[in-house]
Amino acid sequence: MEKDKILVAGATGYLGKYITRELLSEGFKTKIIVRNPNKIEFGDDNLIVEKAEVTRPETLKDICKDVRVVISTVGITRQKDGLIYMDVDYRANANLIDEAKKSGVEKFIYVSVLNGEKLRHLKICEAKEKLGDYLKSSGLDYCIVRPSGFFSDMGDFLKMAEGGRVYLFGDGKFKINPIHGEDLAKAVVETIHNDKKEIDIGGCRVFSHNDIAELALNAYSKPVKIVHLPDWIRKFILWFLRTFTNPKFYGPLEFFMTAMAMDMQATPYGKHKLEDYFKNQVNNARKPPRSENECMNK
Ligand SMILES: NC(=O)c1ccc[n+]([C@@H]2O[C@H](COP(=O)([O-])OP(=O)(O)OC[C@H]3O[C@@H](n4cnc5c(N)ncnc54)[C@H](OP(=O)(O)O)[C@@H]3O)[C@@H](O)[C@H]2O)c1
Repeated sequence: MEKDKILVAGATGYLGKYITRELLSEGFKTKIIVRNPNKIEFGDDNLIVEKAEVTRPETLKDICKDVRVVISTVGITRQKDGLIYMDVDYRANANLIDEAKKSGVEKFIYVSVLNGEKLRHLKICEAKEKLGDYLKSSGLDYCIVRPSGFFSDMGDFLKMAEGGRVYLFGDGKFKINPIHGEDLAKAVVETIHNDKKEIDIGGCRVFSHNDIAELALNAYSKPVKIVHLPDWIRKFILWFLRTFTNPKFYGPLEFFMTAMAMDMQATPYGKHKLEDYFKNQVNNARKPPRSENECMNK
């Protein structure tokens, strides 16, 4: 069987969709594995959709037989499946690595997180770094992609800005260069052809948290009102969450609250501007819903 396909796991997610579109636009035969095919809103002659669940290895059997390269963006972000990072970010991706090895896949590309090695004490990074270690010792050629924040995650600034005030911990001077999914997808697809083993990557412009707050307020045409909360509140919330809630609940918050108190600056890449993204988000939110007739006439 000719090994000519690229397999994407995580194609129903924010980044996975952009990667799938990028692969198709470059003419790759692309196989995506999804647990819910209804989430796929686009079609293409080069697109093969297969139903499988990375958490259930029996559903992955022979899925990589005709596959040259596997790209995985699978990970818990906002999903509420009752699973923990070790189940998904580590174990499910390890299932896919095992299957890729069995079928003689050439390369495995995994989307991890910036500064993961330094943040191994956080639940999410513990699982992602364990997966990185597993991949490195798998014998497969590999690339680990370490992005800073995604544009999609800057939505929290917008939500606060809509109310007229953005709340930040500390002085708001920590730096980040968030990246648009489309830019990141291009960089991920480039790693198919190059021999880089790890890349860290962010968007084309570096911002302080204050800058991002200002952009978000500008997008709503609101005066710039930023409230700087003392950092002990952030530390107290982290302590409280770890002491009184379980990892399923506090995991995503733990990462967010930690990343808010450090620089998340990576190698700049891409062309999308955060201010345009914010303006589009605000404009889309303001568009009136289509009337029933409009939908029927489509
Ligand atoms: N967001 C950021 O700022 C950021 C920054 C750095 C790195 N990352 C990492 O980049 C990766 C992609 O992020 P994203 O924003 O694209 O995430 P996303 O939109 O939540 O997509 C995650 C994908 O993983 C799949 N998935 C999650 N749990 C699963 C499970 N139990 N079984 C099967 N599939 C499962 C989802 O499938 P369903 O659609 O079926 O749920 C989805 O396709 C994640 O690993 C994330 O940690 C994110």
